[in-house]
Amino acid sequence: MNQYQVSGPTSLFGEIKISGSKNAALPILFTSLLTPELVELKNIPILKDTKYAIKILTKLGAKIEIKNKIIYINSETIKICKIPYSLTNKIRASIWILGVLLARFREAKVSFPGGCNIGNRKINLHLLGLKQLGAEITVTKNYIIGSVKKKLVGNTIKLSIVSVGATITIMSAATISTGTTVIKNAAREPEIIDLANFLNKLGAKIIGAGNKNILIHGVKKLHGGSYKIMSDRIETGTFLIAAAISNGHIICHNTQPKTLTHVIKKLNQTGAKIKTGQTWISLNMKNIHPRSVNITTKPYPGFPTDIQSIFTLLNLISHGNSIVTETIFENRFAYIKELKKMGAKAIIKNNSVMCYGVKKLYSAKVLASDLRSCASLILAGCIAEGNSKIYNTHYIKRGYENFYEKLKSIGANIKN
Ligand code: UD1
Repeated sequence: MNQYQVSGPTSLFGEIKISGSKNAALPILFTSLLTPELVELKNIPILKDTKYAIKILTKLGAKIEIKNKIIYINSETIKICKIPYSLTNKIRASIWILGVLLARFREAKVSFPGGCNIGNRKINLHLLGLKQLGAEITVTKNYIIGSVKKKLVGNTIKLSIVSVGATITIMSAATISTGTTVIKNAAREPEIIDLANFLNKLGAKIIGAGNKNILIHGVKKLHGGSYKIMSDRIETGTFLIAAAISNGHIICHNTQPKTLTHVIKKLNQTGAKIKTGQTWISLNMKNIHPRSVNITTKPYPGFPTDIQSIFTLLNLISHGNSIVTETIFENRFAYIKELKKMGAKAIIKNNSVMCYGVKKLYSAKVLASDLRSCASLILAGCIAEGNSKIYNTHYIKRGYENFYEKLKSIGANIKN
């Protein structure tokens, strides 16, 4: 079992260069197959999840080269439209290949997606959206089998739930179609804007990404192009909170403060001193005892569910009591049991955690159960007194580039 030993307490100080966004890189990697021409992608984070995505593209026959962190994708030669479970089950994002194959090749046989176990992660809205664009979809025990008669046809599609994944599936498939598609109640995450910017650079006509309604005028085909992926706002939030929990001071470079407005507002309420520039954010918690702050996760521009477990850790060592409510995924509090082993005081009530701030955490052996809870537990180890052991640290490599090295560079006493 992968494990880290973390000794604390330490204060985390220094500068971090934020990597490219995982959640933008994944859909951009998959949708690069919409064009047979060469695509060049810069700022791709090298992570387990992006490596799995690249494996899927390679399995389909795409030729991929990586030079100096730039990925070149040539999918001219793709012939296969079938992907087995052994590849799709590694990541949730693998579902995005379905709409891409249907739009470009009019057929697809794709097994079910995997991903972190944070709730019942359905794909009904992805499939319904593709059906509304004219695809025929059959779900068998092992595969989702799709076909398109002539071309996907634009439609008005209203999502019953704001879903990042379904918005991406529909937006990318509708790119190569006849007619116009309107996605109503679309997700507004910055990663969706980044994907739309990428596709538009290849000749797509997507208007209004980042708004509740997205308009896509279908085009016949896309051409090649070069694109730089946005920076990871969740990684930025994680490192800002690393300083906030440890009376530290951090500057995150290569980041986009406007994608973190809600998180910065909440961090300000804890008493942290925050400064921002065009591409950097600094957080100073030196000699400040943070105050506990209520948070409720919501689709963007609300508080991101992916930062919930990390902000909850901050609340658990802050002054006062607070409530953290999770409204996106139903199974995102598994790490609370582990933090309690370190002395945290918390009670789970339905989809909320009551946080009762304590002055100190103590070392313990704890088990991570998903990517973001893994980050929360490793950071808890940094501020807990004594030597903590965090198990299942393979999760961190799925979504944070060089987390171990970056944390060490700001003063964490960490060994693997
Ligand atoms: C993406 C992100 C994930 C983030 C989440 C919410 C990636 C690879 N993952 O996940 O990090 O936590 O957005 O910001 O980008 N739902 C359905 N039916 C569907 C699709 C979704 O009921 O067909 C539900 C889900 O169960 C969940 C909610 O909608 O309760 C939101 O999920 P969604 O926004 O789709 O998240 P993901 O795309 O899976």
